[in-house]
Amino acid sequence: MGTVLGVLLSVLFAFGLIPSDGVGRTVKTPVGPGVPRDINTTDLGVQNATLIAIYGFNNQSNDIFLFKVHRIHKAQVQVVAGLKYFLYADIRRTVCRKGKPYNFKYCSFQTYPPLSKRFTCHFKVWVASWKQSWKMIDLNCQ
Ligand SMILES: *[C@@H]1O[C@H](CO)[C@@H](O)[C@H](O)[C@H]1NC(C)=O
Ligand SMILES: *[C@@H]1O[C@H](CO)[C@@H](O)[C@H](O)[C@H]1NC(C)=O
Ligand SMILES: *[C@@H]1O[C@H](CO)[C@@H](O)[C@H](O)[C@H]1NC(C)=O
Repeated sequence: MGTVLGVLLSVLFAFGLIPSDGVGRTVKTPVGPGVPRDINTTDLGVQNATLIAIYGFNNQSNDIFLFKVHRIHKAQVQVVAGLKYFLYADIRRTVCRKGKPYNFKYCSFQTYPPLSKRFTCHFKVWVASWKQSWKMIDLNCQ
């Protein structure tokens, strides 16, 4: 019974139906699906999610230059009808202008102080389990 309740609560938590501190109060050690866990930043899924995140950021920004991920500080993954990735990353402005063909590999970071710019971002990227459809669902950059 305890296990069933634990799983149910983690499912509710996974869908954001109850806040995490609510889970903490009810279940001492949340286990099973739905609990975000740390994942190596070199993981292929994290790499995929990072690409989606930076495309999403560039799509939404008004900057004339493209930004590129400089460093991923931390990555987490959560099972939510697929996988939800949480990325904590530094992104920096590159020398590549938007609207022109580019390859991130050849877009170096701006080094000239008036043009160099950095943000620390928290991205959420979700990939549905039933189709390989990646979506950035949230971003918060400062
Ligand atoms: C992440 O994976 C790399 C190799 O893919 C390994 O060298 C590194 O130690 C791992 N880092 C952590 C924190 O597990
Ligand atoms: C990463 O993306 C590639 C290309 O879309 C896909 O083939 C691969 O399965 C993905 N890997 C993971 C772990 O998500
Ligand atoms: C870019 O943003 C527009 C509107 O903000 C959205 O409709 C479109 O799907 C986005 N494209 C990509 C590739 O993220």
